[in-house]
Amino acid sequence: MVEPKRHTVTAALPYANGPLHLGHVAGAYLPADIYVRNLRQRGKEVLFVCGSDEHGAAITIKAMKEGTTPQAVVDKYHAMLRDAFIGFGIHFDIYHRTSSDLHERTSQDFFLELHRQGVFVEKEEEQYFDEEAHQFLADRYITGTCPNCGNDKAFGDQCEKCGSALSPNDLIDPRSTLTGTVPVKRPTTHWYLPMDRHQAMMEEWVNTGVLDGVEQHDPREWKPQVLGQCNSWLKEGLRPRAMTRDLSWGVPVPLPEGQGKVLYVWLDAPIGYISATKQWAADNDRDWEPWWKAEDTRLVHFIGKDNIVFHCIIFPMLLELHGGYQLPQNVPANEFLNLEGRKLSTSRNWAVWIHEYLERWPERQDELRYCLTTILPEFRDSEFTWKDFQDKNNNELVAILGNFVQRVFVLCDKFHERQAPSGGASTDQEVTMWSTVHAEVESIARHVDDFRFRDALAAAMNIARAGNKYLTDTEPWKLQKTDPARTATVLLHGANLAAVLSIVLEPFLPFTAEKLRRMLGIPRLGWSEAFRTDLIGPGQELGRPEHLFKPITDAEIQPEIDRLLAGTVTQAPNTDPDPGPAEAPPAKPIVQFEEFAKLDLRVGTILSAEKVAKADKLLKLAIDIGEAVPRTVVSGIAQHFSPDELAGQQVVLVANLAARKMRGVDSQGMVLMAEDSDGRLRFVRPAEAMSPGAEVR
Ligand code: 2FM
Ligand code: ZN
Repeated sequence: MVEPKRHTVTAALPYANGPLHLGHVAGAYLPADIYVRNLRQRGKEVLFVCGSDEHGAAITIKAMKEGTTPQAVVDKYHAMLRDAFIGFGIHFDIYHRTSSDLHERTSQDFFLELHRQGVFVEKEEEQYFDEEAHQFLADRYITGTCPNCGNDKAFGDQCEKCGSALSPNDLIDPRSTLTGTVPVKRPTTHWYLPMDRHQAMMEEWVNTGVLDGVEQHDPREWKPQVLGQCNSWLKEGLRPRAMTRDLSWGVPVPLPEGQGKVLYVWLDAPIGYISATKQWAADNDRDWEPWWKAEDTRLVHFIGKDNIVFHCIIFPMLLELHGGYQLPQNVPANEFLNLEGRKLSTSRNWAVWIHEYLERWPERQDELRYCLTTILPEFRDSEFTWKDFQDKNNNELVAILGNFVQRVFVLCDKFHERQAPSGGASTDQEVTMWSTVHAEVESIARHVDDFRFRDALAAAMNIARAGNKYLTDTEPWKLQKTDPARTATVLLHGANLAAVLSIVLEPFLPFTAEKLRRMLGIPRLGWSEAFRTDLIGPGQELGRPEHLFKPITDAEIQPEIDRLLAGTVTQAPNTDPDPGPAEAPPAKPIVQFEEFAKLDLRVGTILSAEKVAKADKLLKLAIDIGEAVPRTVVSGIAQHFSPDELAGQQVVLVANLAARKMRGVDSQGMVLMAEDSDGRLRFVRPAEAMSPGAEVR
């Protein structure tokens, strides 16, 4: 393998269909940010790219649910995501978006090149079609029962319970996610990637790192669960996968015969990393190609475990078939983060949203970054609790790190008028302390290279612990009385240790590191400086002693727990499979305003009501809607209301519904009702009485 000269680091493009939450951050973005910050400290050339994933069912289903357009959805959430990343100190070189023109061109060119090379197989096939929504159903537009594990909420592309790859035809009892109806089959043509033909190549690349006889990566560096998931897909046997879809939202297929079709979102999304790089290069007058094509570029994808197959099999296969691109050298996918004993769930609002956290805990980004880093789900699922957040803040950040720094600054303030003192000769105590510190500095970098960020942070905290031990052993606050010269030496070493902490903590706690640098009066320093013991010289002006962290009280933490419980939809603890990024779909497809406006809705007053013979559910109502003759309406409400309680009540009537004969009675309209989750019916009516015939719009 070639020694890398530059590092291209990507973090999964989040769907722009919702705000950023803790699970996203712990899955991909925080580890990626720590990695990049540390590589940069170590003098490596790094490009860190991300952006919003703005296509696919995740977006269109959200638009339907919110009764708006996909473009409005992505505009809203793209801005929210971008701001949340900035606020939380996740610092990309570019945060791009896949609805941009540059991305459209880039992914179309990529597709056309594959097409030119004959990579795709064009196939006409019967596919499920929703006759009510007038749409073909693939991926998350269709659900059904998984043939492998019986999960009745499996999607058309994947079962999230057992992880198996599915196609809509595999689903038992398929249903449209859009309308809930049973779909029919219709023929349609698509461009398939015959993944089965490239199975051997991918098997070799994943498991030996060798491609075309050249060693590309070392599989021993890959996480076992990543290799495991790849191999379980490979064992199932790769199957052809359509790279196009019959949808209107997405990157249009750039072929005359591809009219009305778009690229599969999992084709266009990872190309988003490339288009983001192109945009960054254009903005900075740089060349994008080395970041993807040069042999001495190391490409690393940070993702959550649900994205493994796309980044370890499908995208690398596409890059290889296209030619000219480097394949990822590692894909350090994380497992999932649970929250207070349950699976995080957007649809059930069981989540901590980063933008809300930033509002409620301003200036406390590092406290959350710290807690999350200590529990990153690096090898198995892990769990965030607010209590743990509080404990880690109080017992670690305040008691260990904050306490050490505070003591050094307070003593320099008290004994040396806020200046670093002149030190004398070192003793064994300093030698021991510094050798511990330097061993920890080395191990931080090693752990970062191994994608073990929890261990890396623990090593950084050991440096603060070593500082506390040094102060406890030397007791400068007592020593001053008997040996001020030795006390000065201790405090100078203490200040230098604080300077080393400002370097090693930067990737994990960037806001705190900056504050510490300000207090010490030093600039941002490189990694090699963390091995020095003389960063702070005698006489250096020091800042006022400030607390780096404040204790968090029960009174501050309880509202967070209450908020979570109040906001959630009831759910059994940790059993239900999460419905995934696709939220509960609306019951009916979107209608245009023009269609809605065709309805003539009127306020009416019920004049009388009577039972309909031989129909125990029906009542015949006479309703005044300001016309010469009252309307006769048959309504299925007999089991909910007795006829005599109805006279005088106001209702809303669909007045231009085609008349229907029910039990021999002509029904001239329909009364609007709302049904509770327990099945109780209520009339929909104006909040205050109105004249019959008033129009409802
Ligand atoms: O799972 C997701 O949230 C996807 N939007 C990730 C895409 S990663 C990349 F391929 F763009
Ligand atoms: Zn399954």
